[in-house]
Amino acid sequence: MPLHGLEPAQQPAFQGESGMRNAATLRDLHRSRFGAEPAVFSAPGRVNLIGEHTDYAQGFVMPAAIDFATLAGISPRSDGMIVIYSENYAEERVFDAAALPKQAAGHWSDYPIGVTAIIAGEGHAIPGFSLSLWGDVPLGSGLSSSASVEVASALAVASLAGVRYSGPALALVCQRAENEFVGANSGIMDQFISVNGAEDHALLLDCRDLTFKLVPIPADVALVIANTMVKHAHAGGEYGTRRAEVEAACAVIARHRPEVKFLRDATVEDLERWGNEMDPNALKRARHVITENTRTVAAAEALLRGNLAEVGRLMAEAHWSYSRDFEASCIEADEMVELAQDLPGLIGARLTGGGFGGCTINLVKREQALGFAKTLAGRYAARTGINPDFHICHASGGAHRLDLGP
Ligand code: GLA
Repeated sequence: MPLHGLEPAQQPAFQGESGMRNAATLRDLHRSRFGAEPAVFSAPGRVNLIGEHTDYAQGFVMPAAIDFATLAGISPRSDGMIVIYSENYAEERVFDAAALPKQAAGHWSDYPIGVTAIIAGEGHAIPGFSLSLWGDVPLGSGLSSSASVEVASALAVASLAGVRYSGPALALVCQRAENEFVGANSGIMDQFISVNGAEDHALLLDCRDLTFKLVPIPADVALVIANTMVKHAHAGGEYGTRRAEVEAACAVIARHRPEVKFLRDATVEDLERWGNEMDPNALKRARHVITENTRTVAAAEALLRGNLAEVGRLMAEAHWSYSRDFEASCIEADEMVELAQDLPGLIGARLTGGGFGGCTINLVKREQALGFAKTLAGRYAARTGINPDFHICHASGGAHRLDLGP
């Protein structure tokens, strides 16, 4: 089975039998390319149910890992070189383990070599290795394909180098690679959930101290991911601009209440009192972040109580706050959310991830999920002229080593 030939929409590839088949295919590919037996690791992408652009304000997020992942196969080399092959890009890159690059090259290999450089920078000796990568997390769709590459690679390299990280520490290594090496100023959510995801659960993560609560997703609820097919690209300007606006709003509040170091500590009353000292955009961004924190905690409580109607209400509120106050949605994502509202089985819908395109997450009664996806796809295509991709997922476990047997 050629790895490229998989159609992720039909075939979430990393769960159960098909997942093991793909891992065995990656192992075979690694064996024939490098003539060595690899250890194989898997790290998932994610959806975020609620809590957007709150992580870097030390707030709350509630993501779940999904059935799409990156696989990394690794074996040692004796020539001191690091050879990284991506099956998705059908391309190989070679580095010297003794002279790792210090910064990104604007290339897919930035992610695996970035985590390697961060691990080395922590004082760990990195031997030469061969690394094969393949993944089926849709690229540029807001489902954290890059975090899954970072986490799979970091797990592989750490294991080869004999370095043991706790779950949170591994996520932080990957976030540092993203911030310091790749140069994207993102928060901790994506890497954290890729490492620490739990089967059939979302995770209410407190981004201040990285403690979390597992929140079960009921067995009769499916995660229906609707890809608007509008590419999001937040390594570029918009993500950074939003983050700067959030921080500027926080600085205004801190002038009056110095104990407010992050918007996590601010309230809507703060905005009422000092919002007029803020740039109007900064005020709107802050209103989103502050109310989103409250909604995220409330949504976790509602899900724990089984109050799905309340979860749906909060997701809708979150979407429109993200769209109108944070201005991080796009026409297509707003359409995808609106067109879903009256469909049978829908619990809640909103744009997920960094924004400016990508996917909506729809919580849908499982037995109605297929019908929901088909009807929404048809409606969306008729309205926008774009054929969307749909993935009916469930919450999967976090990154791990695969035991493939002989
Ligand atoms: C991206 C970033 C995350 C988070 C989200 C928005 O996915 O990588 O850290 O900020 O956007 O919630």
